[in-house]
Amino acid sequence: MPAFSFYAVCPFGLETLLADEILALGADPDLVRPGRGGVQFAGDTGLAMAACLHSRLASRILMRVAHAEYWDSRDVYDIARSTKWERWFGPDVTLRIDTSATRCPLESIDFAALRIKDAICDRFRELAGRRPSVDRRTPDVRIVAHFTYDRVSLFLDLAGEALFKRGWRLTHGEAPLKENLAAGLLLLSEWRPEMPLVDPFCGSGTIAIEAARIAINYAPGLDRSFAFENLEGFDRSLWTEMLEDARAAVNPHAEVLIRASDISSIVVEKALENADRAGLGKLLDDGRLSFTQGDAREVVPPELPEGFEPGLVIANPPYGEQSNPKSASIQSMMGHVAANLKQHYAGWRAWMLSSDRTLPSQMRLKPSRKVVLFNGPLECRFFRFDMVAGSNRREKKTQTNDAE
Ligand SMILES: C[S@@+](CC[C@H](N)C(=O)[O-])C[C@H]1O[C@@H](n2cnc3c(N)ncnc32)[C@H](O)[C@@H]1O
Repeated sequence: MPAFSFYAVCPFGLETLLADEILALGADPDLVRPGRGGVQFAGDTGLAMAACLHSRLASRILMRVAHAEYWDSRDVYDIARSTKWERWFGPDVTLRIDTSATRCPLESIDFAALRIKDAICDRFRELAGRRPSVDRRTPDVRIVAHFTYDRVSLFLDLAGEALFKRGWRLTHGEAPLKENLAAGLLLLSEWRPEMPLVDPFCGSGTIAIEAARIAINYAPGLDRSFAFENLEGFDRSLWTEMLEDARAAVNPHAEVLIRASDISSIVVEKALENADRAGLGKLLDDGRLSFTQGDAREVVPPELPEGFEPGLVIANPPYGEQSNPKSASIQSMMGHVAANLKQHYAGWRAWMLSSDRTLPSQMRLKPSRKVVLFNGPLECRFFRFDMVAGSNRREKKTQTNDAE
């Protein structure tokens, strides 16, 4: 099979973990290169389909179909015109073209996108007498053009809807995390299903749902469709086989103990609905996963069942403009949350994602690690606090990837 060049897009800060995911799918290590906000890799279309189905961290998988130097939008037209689009789709599809750029000297990127569309249409008109039409909302085929100072790359977006949309989210709680960022928090924290997990600020339940699906080995893309299904050149029988294998690999009986709660009973109801839609009904029924109404200042950890190690608290508490309560009351609340953690969670590790750099001082805890991550455009820190009985203010020096 020929090797194609792919680019997996992910939230900033998760590139190395995404590279590990792609390697675990069998990619050639010499061809996997983490960058900023994504990972370049190469392989056959089967590898790309596997990445769409199994990657918990990627937002999109893009396949590069052209890459060349340009000077102006005429060159962009020529590059798009000479690309063999007919290898991947026919004249009767609907299209959409998205652009991104770093240091692009063109006056108008929108105009360049229009020229790419014209080039594709002209090519098909010449080849088939018919041309694709544009549909910005629900296109069959999405094309991404990325411009640098002197090069343009044209990609086919293999995902369609962003990959963090797993297909289960019905309603939105207050400021839900994207599912791939929630998966990133779980991987960064080194959570394993043998550790109880508590999210006392669960909102729509993203962290708990993602963790439960990791525990039962539920492939993130199992319940959704992908743009590559509208393209030629993607082996349908191999795809059917991949889906069957992924379904067979789900272990609904996996041992796990996940406790999620939120102060709002309305939000908890929504989280329960989401978990049910995410195929976790059995775990809810037998108590391996629960969502309850509760105040994070008072939530106590579950009893440790035999064979379980001390657990993890992973949460994104309300912060900044996202939340209704005024910041001062959030700060005082986080002081009380910390007091509760110190009293009841000795031996646990608590990880908190916040855009508020003063969170450790509000909690009067020294983080043993902090990782810079982006929650959408919001720069955040993912703080780790190692809970010991009483205060751990003077704990060991903080490990950090932060430039501060
Ligand atoms: C940033 S949101 C969490 C979003 C969640 N991670 C998700 O993906 O949907 C913060 C949540 O904290 C909840 N909250 C605020 N104060 C609380 C408290 N004292 N105890 C528990 N939950 C609280 C809010 O109701 C809100 O759902």
